[in-house]
Amino acid sequence: MSGSVLITGGAGFIGSHIAEEFLGAGWSVTCLDDLSRGKQDQVPAAARFIKADVRERLAFEAVADGRFDLLIHEAAQIDVRVSVHEPALDASINLVGFANMLAAAAAGKTKRVIFASSGGVVYGDPTLLPTPEPTATLPISPYGVSKLAGEHYLRALGELHGFEGVALRYSNVYGPRQDPKSEAGVVSIFVSRLLEGRPLTIFGDGTQTRDYVYVKDVARANLLAATVSASRGPRLDGPAFNIGTGRETTVNDLAAHVGRALGKTPVIEYTAARPGELFRSCLDVSKAGRELGWAPRATFDEGMKALAAWFAGAPK
Ligand SMILES: NC(=O)c1ccc[n+]([C@@H]2O[C@H](COP(=O)([O-])OP(=O)(O)OC[C@H]3O[C@@H](n4cnc5c(N)ncnc54)[C@H](O)[C@@H]3O)[C@@H](O)[C@H]2O)c1
Repeated sequence: MSGSVLITGGAGFIGSHIAEEFLGAGWSVTCLDDLSRGKQDQVPAAARFIKADVRERLAFEAVADGRFDLLIHEAAQIDVRVSVHEPALDASINLVGFANMLAAAAAGKTKRVIFASSGGVVYGDPTLLPTPEPTATLPISPYGVSKLAGEHYLRALGELHGFEGVALRYSNVYGPRQDPKSEAGVVSIFVSRLLEGRPLTIFGDGTQTRDYVYVKDVARANLLAATVSASRGPRLDGPAFNIGTGRETTVNDLAAHVGRALGKTPVIEYTAARPGELFRSCLDVSKAGRELGWAPRATFDEGMKALAAWFAGAPK
């Protein structure tokens, strides 16, 4: 199947890979981004580009008038610490902006909306690892609250207006174009520091764990989610899919992996643990396997080599 898709945040890290994936599958692609973090040169040449803030009327009209088959919502304030210090800003972009886009999808008779949620934050500190979708949700940061509330908006407005909603709960995504200055991108930070010959900083003792998924695998999950039957059911997690690897990696192991992939020995500096950080995170992705026909393909080494190659050729 192909059609026309508008991707908010399409000039950003994950959004630009999604744009490439859909273009490759024959879709007509429009990227919308306010360029607050994204870069216009990351938007593929074959895609249309609209510069707009998802909270604005201009963005509403782009979706409402566009007659898109699909809206993929990646635009967000993505920094947990910004959400802690400026929860109103986080809510304004992540909730008000998303509600604006959902209202526009309803007005434009968009058939389906795919929302970039986060499996790293909606469950809070999970008791069950790898964590499956039906696990109780209890986010511990305003960013997590905004992602979980976004899923509720998606479900409620979808029911009210008749569009289908799918929430993809990503784990920690990494790969080319992830900004090493972003707090979210520890892999990117480690690779760039190692390439520059600088030490790697680890907060706490490095035994905290994450589930690292390669960005092109995430883009493919979005393409599969465009056509999956979106059975809603009475539960929030009905149309939600964890997108990760099911592999739990400590930050110490991550540093060692990055070193091996780049053929360098990392120098590690340990510093105080950051309050509010999750200790363990790892997603059970079997539902995406069963219902989307999705599984991660990239090995860690392949993903990291692609990231290092991008840094080597990336404009400074
Ligand atoms: N990177 C991860 O590990 C990860 C994990 C879980 C969920 N997510 C979610 O995936 C999505 C994409 O994240 P990313 O890592 O690519 O981040 P990113 O910052 O590279 O992409 C977000 C894009 O949204 C744009 N944007 C921000 N505010 C906007 C606004 N008000 N109007 C229009 N555009 C706006 C930015 O310019 C940027 O291009 C986000 O929703 C994020 O919360 C990311």
